[in-house]
Amino acid sequence: MPEYAYSRGFEWDDRKPSRGGGTGYREDSELVPDIEKAINGQYSAINCYAQLAERAPNQEERERILEIRKDEIRHYQTFTGIYRELTGKKPSPRMVGECPEDYRKGLRASLQDEQKTVDFYLDIADQAKSAYIKKRFKRAAADEQNHAVWFLYFLTSGGSAG
Ligand SMILES: [Fe+2]
Ligand SMILES: [Fe+2]
Repeated sequence: MPEYAYSRGFEWDDRKPSRGGGTGYREDSELVPDIEKAINGQYSAINCYAQLAERAPNQEERERILEIRKDEIRHYQTFTGIYRELTGKKPSPRMVGECPEDYRKGLRASLQDEQKTVDFYLDIADQAKSAYIKKRFKRAAADEQNHAVWFLYFLTSGGSAG
């Protein structure tokens, strides 16, 4: 992930919420519960992937999981920015479930979660009227699909038995 993408997301997150500023966001307020759910999912993934990376059997796998985690942080910031635009307030994220303690259980749970998330984000993109929200959720769905492939590779490459 290039550095500029991270900082651009962060600046965007820091903008003050604009009310009725012609962003076209207000018509998407029915998406708030889904965006809140997406934020909680990202928050949980950021926490669980930190633990998963610690348990990785080798450096290569650990670094890849940390790269995936950086994508989740970027998604979290983007979705938080959208939430603030829509509601005028900051979200109060919470964990969804617990992180599995066993490494391979963690990989399986992550693979399933990533694949479900692809569908969930594409549904949000389909429902959104704002072009910005559509674009961000489609892009995030593509990232999650890529993450799912990595987790599947870790599970099948066999380097992490036990
Ligand atoms: Fe994500
Ligand atoms: Fe992901």
